[in-house]
Amino acid sequence: MDDRLYELIYTLAEKHSLSLEEYQYLIDHRTEEAASLLAKEAAIISKRIYGNLIFTRGLIEISNICKNDCLYCGIRRSNKNCVRYRLMPEQILDCADEGHILGFRTFVLQGGEDGYYTDELLCQIISEIKRRHPDSAVTISMGERGKQSFRRMYDAGADRYLLRHETADRTHYMRLHPSEMSFEHRMQCLQDLRDIGYQVGCGFMVGSPYQMSGHLARDLKFIEEFLPDMCGIGPFIPHHDTPFCNEPAGTLELTCYLLSIIRLIHPPVLLPATTALGTIDPKGREKGIQAGANVIMPNLSPVGVRKQYELYDNKICTGEESAQCRHCLDHRMRSIGYELAVDKGDIRK
Ligand code: SAM
Ligand code: FES
Repeated sequence: MDDRLYELIYTLAEKHSLSLEEYQYLIDHRTEEAASLLAKEAAIISKRIYGNLIFTRGLIEISNICKNDCLYCGIRRSNKNCVRYRLMPEQILDCADEGHILGFRTFVLQGGEDGYYTDELLCQIISEIKRRHPDSAVTISMGERGKQSFRRMYDAGADRYLLRHETADRTHYMRLHPSEMSFEHRMQCLQDLRDIGYQVGCGFMVGSPYQMSGHLARDLKFIEEFLPDMCGIGPFIPHHDTPFCNEPAGTLELTCYLLSIIRLIHPPVLLPATTALGTIDPKGREKGIQAGANVIMPNLSPVGVRKQYELYDNKICTGEESAQCRHCLDHRMRSIGYELAVDKGDIRK
């Protein structure tokens, strides 16, 4: 490993900040040795704050109907082969009830931008989950909405909102999305969510089409400046019915490297080892945790719809019952010296 790389890693571990050019250097000149050192430092920091506990979030994929047409996404509106579904409020509440029995204390309602879920309906669902499970957090991940809508859901009891920024580079954003979508609006949503009082999650795909190290450096700088409570990063994986069907997937190696860097940039950040990471490598989630991640998001959706929420090809865990998912992950985490917490899992600042 060259001296500069070594120096940058220790500067980052100490100061939690680098320049854009330094972040890019860290990415361009990475070696296996640098990755191990970063992972070691990241795991130490994570253990100092969270011990060997891994937080879980029960993911409920409430709808695969979406008005957007993101070029990478398997449930984009132009995909006529996608068999659409949406869950009714009672089904969503059943998933949360089952999840609570299994030990989940955060429920993530995620879906496409489906106009069926008006503010009023989402607020009813959120307040009913909170009424039934007052010890639990509700996270919403339903894409871009207006500030008033975000506020209503917050007032109804939503605690957190996940909205990946996707890329911090405007030109790159425009190559991943159709022209009616705007980088500025996505960023404005993140700011609005923060201003309202949500715990906010941003994030991006690793290895998305056209992505270069300079783009990733900007993502890291954005994370350093925005200091999100959560940060979802996972590899891009092509979906066969999208314009990016022939693009290569992102790698486990680069995703883990970036997870470690993000842990050093913002030590308390809640960082999931994503399902996409588990999809590109059978031990991807374990490797993500060993690189500094501290959250996993098992699927709580009804088994019957899991295959239909197909953002990318070969998604794992689509045939498992929720209980099996939890037990499998519990076992996987124990095999590497961690355990699943039964805890809301708020950020420890
Ligand atoms: N509609 C909401 C939104 O836009 O935030 C939530 C659902 S969206 C499908 C959740 C995330 O899935 C996106 O932010 C994107 O980063 C990720 N995603 C979509 N297609 C993907 C793909 N082909 N490979 C990996 N991740 C993908
Ligand atoms: Fe809307 Fe993917 S295009 S969720």
